[in-house]
Amino acid sequence: MAIASMAAAAAAAIVGAVREHVRASDLAVAGAVLFAFSAAVSAVRARRRGAPVLWPLVGIVPTLFVHRDDIYEWGSAALLRAGGVFPYRGTWGGGSSGVITSAPANVEHVLRANFGNYPKGPYYRERFVELLGGGIFNADGEAWRAQRRAATAEMHSSRFVEFSVRSIEQLVYGRLVPLAERLSGGGAAVDLQEVLLRFTFDNICAVAFGVDAGCLADGLPDVPFARAFELATELSLLRFVTPPFIWKAKRLLRAGSERRLVEATRAVREFAERAVADRRNEMRKVGSLRGRCDLLSRLMSSAPGADYSNEFLRDFCISFILAGRDTSSVGLAWFFWLLAGHPDVESRVVGDVLAAGGDIKRMDYLHAALTEAMRLYPPVPVDFKEALADDVLPDGTPVRARQRVIYYTYAIGRDPASWGDDAAAFRPERWMRGGAFAGGESPFKYAVFNAGPRLCIGKRFAYTQMKTAAAAVLSRFAVEVVPGQEVKPKLTTTLYMKNGLMVRFRRRSPPPPSPPPRHVVADDDDDDDVAAGRHVAVGSCNSNHL
Ligand code: HEM
Repeated sequence: MAIASMAAAAAAAIVGAVREHVRASDLAVAGAVLFAFSAAVSAVRARRRGAPVLWPLVGIVPTLFVHRDDIYEWGSAALLRAGGVFPYRGTWGGGSSGVITSAPANVEHVLRANFGNYPKGPYYRERFVELLGGGIFNADGEAWRAQRRAATAEMHSSRFVEFSVRSIEQLVYGRLVPLAERLSGGGAAVDLQEVLLRFTFDNICAVAFGVDAGCLADGLPDVPFARAFELATELSLLRFVTPPFIWKAKRLLRAGSERRLVEATRAVREFAERAVADRRNEMRKVGSLRGRCDLLSRLMSSAPGADYSNEFLRDFCISFILAGRDTSSVGLAWFFWLLAGHPDVESRVVGDVLAAGGDIKRMDYLHAALTEAMRLYPPVPVDFKEALADDVLPDGTPVRARQRVIYYTYAIGRDPASWGDDAAAFRPERWMRGGAFAGGESPFKYAVFNAGPRLCIGKRFAYTQMKTAAAAVLSRFAVEVVPGQEVKPKLTTTLYMKNGLMVRFRRRSPPPPSPPPRHVVADDDDDDDVAAGRHVAVGSCNSNHL
């Protein structure tokens, strides 16, 4: 007791002395000196490594802020200087730290060799849980594996492949080409990225739910479900750049962006739940879903399908929409932009398309040009995984448990060590051997579709979609980029063009071969249903395909 009171008296004496002799300005000066000293140490360390400075308290954030308009170029150059890897740290209390890498060996280690140690992790999951729930894009471990198995089995079935081709062609020949036709008549300019985003959104809704979202319908209507989906994605991503104590407090108080996130995710979930309920009703009434080929129906009809809960089916479909809604459209937008700047490549692509007589499997040069465009402009420019336990990357870089390894796909695709001195050039020929497309590049060097056990499930679908759309458009129209616009990436997790891409369609002459005669999209009545927000089944299986 006596000791305690002596200690209290001593502490009071010290505080008193400090109050008497130390002014606030002294403390400020001491803080500034400490800050400057530790900033100088960080700067020296970073310079030695060729890496960006990690500032006291705010880490890499000021550097990212300075480079917010050229973040991908800056990141690629910084990784090149640092030999393919550097550490990073976010703001104090933000819980984000780890390494950023563009070295294929490190990427392979994380995505394949030590896959078990690098799940998506809780950091990702808790930011996306409202929108994605336990869907494949947000799942790890057995929950992920089970969905992956189910999705792969369905998507690789010939029945689904045929259905998806039909669904793509319906949209391309029933909506995309007629839209370009109308626009070419008046010479009006249109934001091509916006049009393509609408196309792929409709497409993924058709294959996931068997529902026509109607974004590409006449007049390009505002579609509440698409708007809610976009908002929910943007607001979930906002959590990645907001200190957790801020967004978590807002979530608790249902304030601002967190309130809007709840509203947007509710709208998305209600839409998905309605699709699930509709299918359950149909199953009850008709006895089976044998006439339908969309993923939701196929899952419900599969052997374990009867056991899937409504929540499981809802989350599964929402994850698919997130995964497939805008990646291929963004890839296509950069592809068209690159073609406009490379008329020699464009004329070779058009020649290849016309010579293939409508068979996209024979369009090897188009395949190479799309692959090359995505090397330079990967739709998912950066991605990350979270370490479960301490680890060391193949180049000796240590990673601590709960740290993140961010792999910079944009930089990987532009690294001269992997792609040669002309790495920055758009040259589809690098993918061609003897007149045919030659794949065979390591997926860790071309990580555009991810790699290892979590390789993109929709890769084949995406190529079919992109090739069908590009071939249909390019064989009929020259796509002319409106001069004077600034085309640059937007700072987000998908490589959107920040200002879109304004183009004009000019009809080519002579007229191209006619489109495939079957596969015209839903009639006007369907458009009315879409405008009215009703669920419209599209692309039902033809009984020939059962
Ligand atoms: C050019 C178009 C596309 C690109 C570049 C692309 C890229 C990617 C990437 C990088 C991932 C890994 C994401 C991660 O784990 O963090 C991924 C996963 C995935 N993608 Fe794609 N994707 C494309 C199109 C599609 C389409 C059209 C679909 C659906 C039809 C799709 C379905 C998926 C799914 C379900 C996953 C999750 C796989 C898993 O976690 O096991 N993707 N994709």
